[in-house]
Amino acid sequence: MQAFSTIAVRAARKAGGFIVRESDKIKSVHSKANSDYVTNVDQAAEQLILDTISHSYPEHSFLCEESGKSGDSDYQWVIDPIDGTTNFIKKIPHWSISIACNYKGRTEVAVVYNPLSEELFTAVRGRGAQLNGKRIRVSDSKGLEHSLLSTGFPYKNKHKLETYMDIFNKLYPHCGDVRRTGSAALDLAFVAAGRFEGFWEFDLNEWDTAAGVLLVKEAGGMVSDIAGNPDYRKGNSILAANPKAFKVMLKLINQKQA
Ligand code: IPD
Ligand code: CA
Ligand code: CA
Repeated sequence: MQAFSTIAVRAARKAGGFIVRESDKIKSVHSKANSDYVTNVDQAAEQLILDTISHSYPEHSFLCEESGKSGDSDYQWVIDPIDGTTNFIKKIPHWSISIACNYKGRTEVAVVYNPLSEELFTAVRGRGAQLNGKRIRVSDSKGLEHSLLSTGFPYKNKHKLETYMDIFNKLYPHCGDVRRTGSAALDLAFVAAGRFEGFWEFDLNEWDTAAGVLLVKEAGGMVSDIAGNPDYRKGNSILAANPKAFKVMLKLINQKQA
């Protein structure tokens, strides 16, 4: 798996350099759905990642945000060329490249890279998570007191705002504060690095979360959907946190109101 990780890092670095160079040349900004954007740079960066990986592993298959599914193999690369496209378009320097490699549906290798901050988060299943080569761990907070949580708003599904706010209202009084950064892959990487105690969001896709989830797990964190089901991919939500914060968040979210 180390060889896969090396290729994933090479692809992420190549794409990162390309995206940074192209960031003054954004030509097209299409709205795929409500406030869901894609640019020519997302598409070209994805192609660059695909070409880099398939050059080494021509028989592997892919699940990519912009070009969809291709190939038929037990090895599947899950790619988001720019996670945080709105930030990218608005020149907010907080977006990332997210690459994961699954074998028979289980994530084995993860890379999340922010080329602007030069932060490279990597993990190989069973071998821990690293930031720029140094081991990272989730934070050791005892619960939510003084914690910093991160989230994403349901901007693509505004009809879910009430359900979202219900969860927000349950968590906010118990934590220190909440951020909405605009890159779910980095939110998860920051949970892995102990910068955020926890993260939750609705309706993410596999390319947003596959790499970040392995980072959190390899850093000692826990992941489920907001009802507590470990197979978060089946639910329409994700909750990731250090083990103690996770327990408290899950309890608060699922508490019935009197
Ligand atoms: C988005 C970002 C954002 C999250 C969205 C994602 P994109 O990915 O991760 O933080 O709130 O739901 O779709 O569209 O920029 O790749
Ligand atoms: Ca994304
Ligand atoms: Ca994207």
